[in-house]
Amino acid sequence: MTYSVDLSTTLGNAWFPAPIFTASGCASSGKELAQFFPLKDIGAIVTKSVMNKPRHGRPTPRMAETPSGMLNSIGLQGPGIDAFLANDVPWLLNQGARVIVSIAGETADEFGVLARKIRSTPGISALEVNISCPNVENRGLVFAADLESSRRVIDSVRKVIGGEIPIIAKLTPDVTNIQEIARGVVDAGADGLALINTVLGMVINLDTLRPHLGGKTGGLSGPAIRPIAVRAIYQVHEVLPKVPILGMGGVASGRDALEMILAGASGVSVGTASFGNPTALIKIQSELHDLLAARGFTSLNQAIGYAHRASQGEGR
Ligand SMILES: Cc1cc2nc3c(=O)[nH]c(=O)nc-3n(C[C@H](O)[C@H](O)[C@H](O)COP(=O)(O)O)c2cc1C
Repeated sequence: MTYSVDLSTTLGNAWFPAPIFTASGCASSGKELAQFFPLKDIGAIVTKSVMNKPRHGRPTPRMAETPSGMLNSIGLQGPGIDAFLANDVPWLLNQGARVIVSIAGETADEFGVLARKIRSTPGISALEVNISCPNVENRGLVFAADLESSRRVIDSVRKVIGGEIPIIAKLTPDVTNIQEIARGVVDAGADGLALINTVLGMVINLDTLRPHLGGKTGGLSGPAIRPIAVRAIYQVHEVLPKVPILGMGGVASGRDALEMILAGASGVSVGTASFGNPTALIKIQSELHDLLAARGFTSLNQAIGYAHRASQGEGR
């Protein structure tokens, strides 16, 4: 695919030819999407968060439709890191795709164990550290809701990953001050941030008169959360302008993606939109290109964080 605007981007020391990525958990390991477009045409596949051991996920039902999004309580179902690194990563690399591996653990130490296994696997572009999962050592409170727990996880990953690949910490918006958590994980060694994970929600079933989801609560994704994501990206870019952000949350069009870039994202992940339309990522990428061109940008880079610049007399 050739574009007149330079759409390439970087997240830490990783370079990507294009700025649209899958969102973790929304395209598994990319195999389903490969029948719709060449996986190498997008920035990278961000794989479902993988844990150390195989997992079954949470009880059913695991999905609920909402007026402008969906609620899921899939949990971190998956094959475990060893099977994942042996099967999924080689398959993706064989497709010419770039791979960002997302990891999740129940303790800070488990994250370190996962990072060590990733370090010894060649070809991975970056590591996304999903700290929006429950910490069994702290009453099941999600790591990213607590500054110290967040820092401890990133610290244990940083000790293992010596700078070969960037560490991207994925944060939850369910906190009072996201700037504080962002600063904390960057101080602890994160090279970039993924904003945002799903927003905690619940649906009550009016027939059973009880929570609809087997896991009771679920994560809200889709258009409903986009303004929350744009706000989080804007707030974090304001205080950490040099730290690359992978933005996500309800992006379904090139316009939505451009909004996140202008707020401060260097790349954009698309999740829920690709459930309804498996070619959404390619459509969004080409719309983003045309919108940038129409606004006189010759590179994506010029548009990153543009919304923060003074509106008077500043050229592109
Ligand atoms: C079904 C489903 C599964 C998800 N699984 C993960 C996951 O394993 N790890 C993770 O970090 N985020 C996970 N997410 C969150 C997405 O990566 C993304 O942050 C969120 O859905 C917002 O983007 P969207 O509105 O484009 O879907 C999941 C989301 C959905 C809808």
